[in-house]
Amino acid sequence: MKFSMKVLGMATAAMFLTTGLAIAGPEKDPEKARVPADQRAAAKKDKTDLYKKAEDASPEIIAEGKAIFEGKGTCVNCHGKDGDGNGPAGKVLNPGPRDFTNCKFHKKRKDGELMWVIKNGSPGTGMVPLIPATISEEEGWKVIAYERSFCKD
Ligand code: HEC
Repeated sequence: MKFSMKVLGMATAAMFLTTGLAIAGPEKDPEKARVPADQRAAAKKDKTDLYKKAEDASPEIIAEGKAIFEGKGTCVNCHGKDGDGNGPAGKVLNPGPRDFTNCKFHKKRKDGELMWVIKNGSPGTGMVPLIPATISEEEGWKVIAYERSFCKD
């Protein structure tokens, strides 16, 4: 009796786990680099003249980034209005979209590494290349400034 209850419990836990993954995949380790090693040094150096660092961008640039994030960029569908990765389309993705409220993630990445992913996607995930098909490179830099602003530290 005791044994079968345990088996039942395990089966239920497994069911929850599987269903959970199908509904909202967990984020794949956000602190691990996404840019392939042989391109990372170059990506880290990639810069814009809109700002020195995206976290220091002007309120005007951040506001333009927000409009792109929620509008033509379609980022909001997956990354969510609050930037936490809980957008309607993001919920069915596995791995889940990046949670931009996570300040530890931001500390691990240079702006240019984010730009690389917006241009090249993150292979094997729902993050597909969005520059130049969906937004321009300049619009990409503006969205990066907005994404950085979700970290409130
Ligand atoms: C169809 C869903 C989807 C849309 C739309 C989308 N993303 Fe993503 N995005 C993802 C997923 C999933 C990941 C996580 C990929 C991974 O873990 O490697 C991600 C990760 C990222 C990352 C993190 C890269 C890193 O270095 O870890 C950035 C930056 C990003 N997206 C920017 C954007 C921007 C900007 C837009 C809009 C122009 C956008 N995304 C639109 C699904 C999406």
